[in-house]
Amino acid sequence: MSTTLVHRHKKLRRLLQEQNLDALALNPGPTLPYLTGLHFHLSERPVVVIFPRQGPLLIVLPELEAPKVENLPYEAISFPYEEDPTTWGNAFTAALALSGLLSARIGVEPRWLRVLELRYLEAAAPNAEFVPAESATAALRMFKDRDEIAAMQKAVDIAQAALEATLPAIRPGVTEREIAAELTTQLLRHGSSGAFPFHPIVSGGPNSANPHATPTDRPLQEGDLLVIDYGANVDGYFSDITRTFALGEVEAEYQHIAEIVLQANQAARAAAGPGVPAAEVDKAARQVIEKAGYGEYFTHRTGHGLGLEVHEEPYIRGDNQQVLQPGMTFTIEPGIYLRGRNGVRIEDDVVITADGCRSLTDLPRELRILPL
Ligand code: CO
Ligand code: CO
Repeated sequence: MSTTLVHRHKKLRRLLQEQNLDALALNPGPTLPYLTGLHFHLSERPVVVIFPRQGPLLIVLPELEAPKVENLPYEAISFPYEEDPTTWGNAFTAALALSGLLSARIGVEPRWLRVLELRYLEAAAPNAEFVPAESATAALRMFKDRDEIAAMQKAVDIAQAALEATLPAIRPGVTEREIAAELTTQLLRHGSSGAFPFHPIVSGGPNSANPHATPTDRPLQEGDLLVIDYGANVDGYFSDITRTFALGEVEAEYQHIAEIVLQANQAARAAAGPGVPAAEVDKAARQVIEKAGYGEYFTHRTGHGLGLEVHEEPYIRGDNQQVLQPGMTFTIEPGIYLRGRNGVRIEDDVVITADGCRSLTDLPRELRILPL
């Protein structure tokens, strides 16, 4: 772990220099453990770790958390504060003054840093400039190493086994909510952390035509399509999988759209590889669906990066010229949604390899007809 962290720090410092940043300030979120190996809860007591371009890390934290930062495998100075909130600002001022960052250009993650931490940082260094640095953190986290891919594979394996274990409970009369409850139990039983990437989507019949449906008390009926979109968490790394099922015989058009979405999924996986822009992967899926006449019913991007966050870079969108490279992990999840009727989505988790794209997911992708 410590060699991994040292390597990440080196890469981060190079990125800070390239982006003309003097430091990066992080609060508890996915990037902080990625760069420090430290885990903190996001709470009313601020924790901020500052990475200057050179020199030790600066860690502002409540006194009760101080034992966590003893004997770290890298240089760090901690600035613990006591319970009285009126003293917290002093810890921030001491950290920024010691590191010569009082009028620095400091990168932050706008999607994670709260007004709470930003106010303390700004008060401690009124002449400093706080700028979005997500392109730097994404440039690190987008490239998964062997251990990270192994964790994601495990999150996929657990999720797949959990879904297989849930299928026998699915039949007409059972509600979406009951299936979601069973799937949740099976995810935990099979070894997922309880911090799921999101609450499972279990949507049958007309609800399946809503890509981000929440499970309802609607009982499943014969002839429904059933979309299940869910994931597991292993060591903070997520899986995100969707499969579509049929409850007995379904309308011919539903079988038809399931076949088209399968072809779109296959086309996108075949198109993905090193050197290919993300936009091309989106295009590959979209063309199949458009050619079949269902373009207007595919209402979202083809996929998104996956890792410590369930949505991260690279986004698989028609306007994203980001070139895919080995180690990048993302979803491929085309869908067709016939509003008010039924919908289909097939979502795989893939990794870019030296010569192509490997799917971590291997559950059957064709429309599975569940026995009634
Ligand atoms: Co999903
Ligand atoms: Co997804």
